[in-house]
Amino acid sequence: MDIQKLIDDVAQALSRYPNDGKVADYIPQLARVDPDHFGIAVADVDGRLFTTGDAEIPFSIQSVSKVFTLTLALGRVGDHLWKRVGREPSGSPFNSIVQLEAEHGIPRNPFINAGAIVIADVLLSGHQPKACIAEILHFLRELTGDFSIAIDPAVARSEQETGFRNRALANYMQSFKNITHPVEHTLGVYFHHCAIAMSCVQLARAGLYLANNGVNPTTGFRVVTRERARRINALMMTCGHYDASGDFAFRVGLPGKSGVGGGILAIVPGQAAIAVWSPRLNKNGNSLFGSLALEMIAEKTGWSTFG
Ligand code: DON
Repeated sequence: MDIQKLIDDVAQALSRYPNDGKVADYIPQLARVDPDHFGIAVADVDGRLFTTGDAEIPFSIQSVSKVFTLTLALGRVGDHLWKRVGREPSGSPFNSIVQLEAEHGIPRNPFINAGAIVIADVLLSGHQPKACIAEILHFLRELTGDFSIAIDPAVARSEQETGFRNRALANYMQSFKNITHPVEHTLGVYFHHCAIAMSCVQLARAGLYLANNGVNPTTGFRVVTRERARRINALMMTCGHYDASGDFAFRVGLPGKSGVGGGILAIVPGQAAIAVWSPRLNKNGNSLFGSLALEMIAEKTGWSTFG
């Protein structure tokens, strides 16, 4: 299969479509991006890399970072994590607070904002916020072998200045004792990992361990057990696109995690990791062309978790 031609064709086809998606502007710094960037990177488990468009330009990975913080938190506390975070799709927007009251401060899953804030709180245990943020960054640098990956400080500041909902979520969960550190420390970790900037190439490489039964195929280093990789993929499939997770599974059929910066990381178990970037979002806060591109790639390659 000629993956290079395939992704070039997808980019070509999409360049002829109108894109009425909107760039996220509730974090003011995110609104400054050129909305018409478009990039794809496919990294396969045999070490090949295919790219098209703006695949080397770093962008704000936002919620895609939650895949990596979940991986680290599972490494830290194992299955004890599930006492503090659920594993069910929420059917609600990413920043929703409504279920938290009835469910006693236990967020539905690790990918909605409330869940990822609990994960940040888990990672903070025994660390200062700065060391915890450094650990997350180090993990991504190790996964990719690319030490240029960094946090965009303007995005982190912008999130800190406007993160009223996240602050509400964290305070609310603290009232149920599901946030154990000072709220501003936990949120500091959360805002900074969301503000990490990575390119499609870097993201696809970072996600490869999930396509390769938990082993980073570039280094041969086991990142997680096979079982854990499978479970992280399951959560990406069921919860990775918030209240559009069902639609993404239906259209694309691969585990995927989106971010409001317009990035999506999708995993093809046994084959490849795919990262796409297009900042214009649909009404659920997921990349409009990113989802379309993945749908086209899945259709043309036959890559699917569902046969
Ligand atoms: O907390 C927020 O709102 C952002 N830092 C991350 C949200 C996000 O990426 C949702 N994904 N589509």
